[in-house]
Amino acid sequence: MASARGPLRIEGVAAASLARRFGTPLYAYSKAALRRRWEDLQQAFQAPDFLLCYAIKANSNPAICRQLARWGAGAEVVSGGELSLALHSGFQPPRIVFSGVGKTREEMRAGLRAGILTFNVESAEELALLSRTAKALGRRAPVSIRVNPAIAAAPHPHLATARAGSKFGVPPREALRLALKAAKSTRLRFLGLHAHLGSQIFDASSYERESRLLMSLSRELKSRGVAIKTLDFGGGFGAEERGQREFPLGRVSSVLRRATGAFPGLTAIIEPGRYLTAGTGTLLTTLLYRKAVLGRRLLIVDAGMNDFLRPALYGARHMIIPASPRPGPRTPADVAGPVCESADVLGRGLRLPPMKPGDVLAVLNAGAYGFSMGSNYNSRPRPAEVLVDGRDVRIIRPRETISELLDCRR
Ligand code: LLP
Repeated sequence: MASARGPLRIEGVAAASLARRFGTPLYAYSKAALRRRWEDLQQAFQAPDFLLCYAIKANSNPAICRQLARWGAGAEVVSGGELSLALHSGFQPPRIVFSGVGKTREEMRAGLRAGILTFNVESAEELALLSRTAKALGRRAPVSIRVNPAIAAAPHPHLATARAGSKFGVPPREALRLALKAAKSTRLRFLGLHAHLGSQIFDASSYERESRLLMSLSRELKSRGVAIKTLDFGGGFGAEERGQREFPLGRVSSVLRRATGAFPGLTAIIEPGRYLTAGTGTLLTTLLYRKAVLGRRLLIVDAGMNDFLRPALYGARHMIIPASPRPGPRTPADVAGPVCESADVLGRGLRLPPMKPGDVLAVLNAGAYGFSMGSNYNSRPRPAEVLVDGRDVRIIRPRETISELLDCRR
């Protein structure tokens, strides 16, 4: 999608023209890119053995969600808001899984009423509350137990959710205990086990270790008369900021297939977020000012850490290129936003050609955890989002206005 030399196009549309037409900062998504990622996943992880639950926190735009739901995806949700979004977007309740360490009673009620596939339960107290909530509603709650596999797979501490000592899930022994308890309860319906390794994982061996652990726990449960219907391996499929490494889909799918093949009739669930949407999205931003700071070339743009938090929060190094490159030598430059924080730097040490105020820059691979992690910090309205489909462009979220920010009664 991105060419380093000619003008950047998003499908059939010049990125610079999108910026002119809709203003910046602007998130632009490619429907064709989304479809390609979806098809790659679907081919590698085929139904009925696999259920693909899109982690909608990665990109919660209702139009993106609706599109994935239409193609047959399930959803992984972590809050009442995400559950409502999933239902509103057309994800089928029997394809929705609900994770998260802090589900409230109201969120449990909403999930039970909707008839979701399962709650991925993360503590003994949560299991007890789910059981009481189900009883009060006169229902049986579907339950999976989230195991903390103690595998350090993710590249950044903030992206690691499966290390020993993390707040997520419970250790394997406790998972067994909770699973046996759930299997005996008349208020709970035990489905299986869940784990999530963290994010930005590129090696199949981490999934192999995860599957070995889940399979050995499953065998132990089976030997105690508890059947396993689902095994959820979580998400974490890497999609690099600079787009240089590819996630080994084929290898991971054969690892999981080999493991789950031992349990006929079992459904394997995966919960990819970033893999589906990262490369689908580009953040367009306009150059406001050029400065030289201690001899360093500094470009101040109109998108900040409130619009795109990943570089500030994780030190993520996204490729940033001019939408319409000018001729001339490429020299090192830092790109910083307007927010009053030193961390508000979108890219450092980039090699960029000459640029003038008004030129448009494109932050690539920004479709996952971009808009969805944005905020109104510095009272900055959130950017608009558009979906490009061939030559068609549709606004899928209008730019927020300052008067919306001022309206406290909303
Ligand atoms: N399942 C569970 C239980 C999760 O907690 C997550 C992500 C996913 C699936 C999807 O992970 P993915 O396939 O997208 O890696 N904000 C960070 C990523 C945090 C992910 C949190 N949980 C970032 O911008 O890199």
